Amino acid sequence: MEVSNLQKAKRILEENRQLNILKMLEKLTGDKQDRLANQIIDLDFEQLNRLYNMAKAKPEILEKKIEHIKYVDKNKLSEEDKNTYTQIGEKIIKNNEYAVVTMAGGQGTRLGHNGPKGTFMLDVKPEPKPLFQILKENLERANKKYGITLQWYIMTSTENDAETEQFFKENNYFGYPKEAIKFFKQGNLPLLFTNGDLVLDKDYTIKEAADGNGCIYKAMRKNGILDDMKNKNIKWVFIGAVDNALLNMVDPVLLGLTVAQKHQAGSKSIAKNSPTEKVGVFCKANNVPSVIEYSELPKEMSEMRDENGELLYGEAHIMCNVFSLEALDKISQVDLAYHVANKKTNYMNENGEFIEVTEPNAYKFEAFIFDAFNYFDEISILRGKREHDFAPVKNKDGNDSPNTAKELYNNYWYNK
Ligand code: UD1
Repeated sequence: MEVSNLQKAKRILEENRQLNILKMLEKLTGDKQDRLANQIIDLDFEQLNRLYNMAKAKPEILEKKIEHIKYVDKNKLSEEDKNTYTQIGEKIIKNNEYAVVTMAGGQGTRLGHNGPKGTFMLDVKPEPKPLFQILKENLERANKKYGITLQWYIMTSTENDAETEQFFKENNYFGYPKEAIKFFKQGNLPLLFTNGDLVLDKDYTIKEAADGNGCIYKAMRKNGILDDMKNKNIKWVFIGAVDNALLNMVDPVLLGLTVAQKHQAGSKSIAKNSPTEKVGVFCKANNVPSVIEYSELPKEMSEMRDENGELLYGEAHIMCNVFSLEALDKISQVDLAYHVANKKTNYMNENGEFIEVTEPNAYKFEAFIFDAFNYFDEISILRGKREHDFAPVKNKDGNDSPNTAKELYNNYWYNK
């Protein structure tokens, strides 16, 4: 290691009062020391300090003007409107101007699945399939219907990139044209202890975690995905989750409605089934379209009802979003806000002992995909139906589990 690099890292740590890491850096030798010093030099401490101050501040939501947001109910559309939207959407799709992105950076931790979430096998009819294959079949049906090949972009993370690509390779891309699939990786951010200290991992590196699905826009820019789309003459892009077995990624009505309303973004919602359902809800916040995540929605607001008895903040965000390429270009250049979560994180202490914890002890910072909606005056919201659009696979048992998703999937495809 060049002395200067080590000195540089030490100075940075001193300046930022990261004294535990400094102590460890001084103790280490050889490759381990090189790696840690280089990692420190690459960290953006200005950003980290900002994030830490934000974590300590009170939640911002209470300071915003929150209002109900308007939506269009797909099931109450007149035949005429439905046909108009369908035709507009289908024209774009048939012209090969529509592409699909799957956010697959998450692990199946809550699900108790050891591996990328898309590799989770769902025991559906006629035979068990991994979530990735279920998504692929959705695209394949659209390809057949419209005589096209949809470009499929898959976002992975440091944690699961190699395993995801390997899984596709081993399964021969589930028969999807290999050249139409592109993987790209999202970024990471360091975790911080609640006192602001960086966390050291088992392997003597600074512990980092995926920077949240909202970092997809920057990742698409950085990895040349937006350029690739531009080169392929793609005009509209679907972005959705990996963990919804009924996700309809090619809905011409959603696309057509967004275009007809002259909006740059559109999103499918469903009616939230109870105040406690773990879904983000659409609203207007300070006059712009927003989603309040379930973890941040105050209880009183989650229970408010309108004059018809419907939940006032009851339009659930189901991660079924379309954006114009222009919109993505714009959002990929702004810094979305980060959200903070308290996490349990095991760590290496200054004596080199690995400590396993049972209580949350660190902040994790994540950008959320839907915060991009704030950058538009209006977006289109199309209310779909739970039985048609939403079979989430989140938890091991109970709500939103493989059992509930399997039932929804089988009912939709086999009991229609
Ligand atoms: C998410 C939504 C929530 C919505 C619900 C519907 C966000 C922030 N929250 O909550 O509003 O109502 O789904 O099911 O989107 N992912 C990445 N990289 C990351 C983190 C997540 O690619 O760094 C992907 C996951 O692989 C998954 C999706 O984003 O496809 C959702 O992630 P998850 O953390 O499971 O979101 P939920 O808490 O379920």
